[in-house]
Amino acid sequence: MERICGRRCQEITTDELDALVTHIADLPDVLIDLGTGDGRFVLHTARAHPARYVIGIDACRDNLYEASRRAPANALFLIANICSLPEELAGLASAITINFPWGTLLTGLLEEGSPLLTSLARLARPGATLEIRLNGGALIEAGYSLEAGGDQVRRLARQAGFRVAAPQPLAAGDLRAYPTTWAKRLAFGRDPRALYLAGRYHFEESEERTKIPWHAHSR
Ligand SMILES: C[S@@+](CC[C@H](N)C(=O)[O-])C[C@H]1O[C@@H](n2cnc3c(N)ncnc32)[C@H](O)[C@@H]1O
Repeated sequence: MERICGRRCQEITTDELDALVTHIADLPDVLIDLGTGDGRFVLHTARAHPARYVIGIDACRDNLYEASRRAPANALFLIANICSLPEELAGLASAITINFPWGTLLTGLLEEGSPLLTSLARLARPGATLEIRLNGGALIEAGYSLEAGGDQVRRLARQAGFRVAAPQPLAAGDLRAYPTTWAKRLAFGRDPRALYLAGRYHFEESEERTKIPWHAHSR
């Protein structure tokens, strides 16, 4: 995993990650945005909520030079494949967002037993919120109708330990107001259909996090 700050991208050693995580784990409100894209949502959220620590993770560094260069002290950008995150991040997030996923980020939400679902459950603190916004066009490319895709994501997130409410449609106005680049693209594009799912991680005290393995799948 690498930390990105403008054009500088540095591999994080296990010791550095331990130190970083020790600091972050004590903070009451840590949002992790998975598949953060160009980082616009992280910048917006970190500036709007200075008491919140916001981490954006994406596999692609090219779109993150600008946002990571301008990141305030309560924002951090990491380059990693979300399907194989380091063990140290376990239990860090009080909130998780996935906005308009594609590629393995989307298929990982749609496939039974995927490493992404394991990653989600491992990242979450007990009671952590989960918000997922799905792009109808991306679901169709993945072989699902909007309704079937939303239901499948909900079913698998519930299996992974999140209590998720029924998917809600997002209107073009909702998309326009939402501070991510893809929300705007959809709102002004030809097919603005999108869904919103919200849930909370329901952690049974009897479960042991260490029994849930991280999988090291490549993208
Ligand atoms: C459609 S973009 C959405 C970006 C942003 N969330 C937004 O709303 O503007 C999907 C993002 O997911 C990232 N992504 C897809 N699969 C991933 C994976 N396995 N690990 C990390 N990032 C991934 C892509 O690199 C891309 O930036």
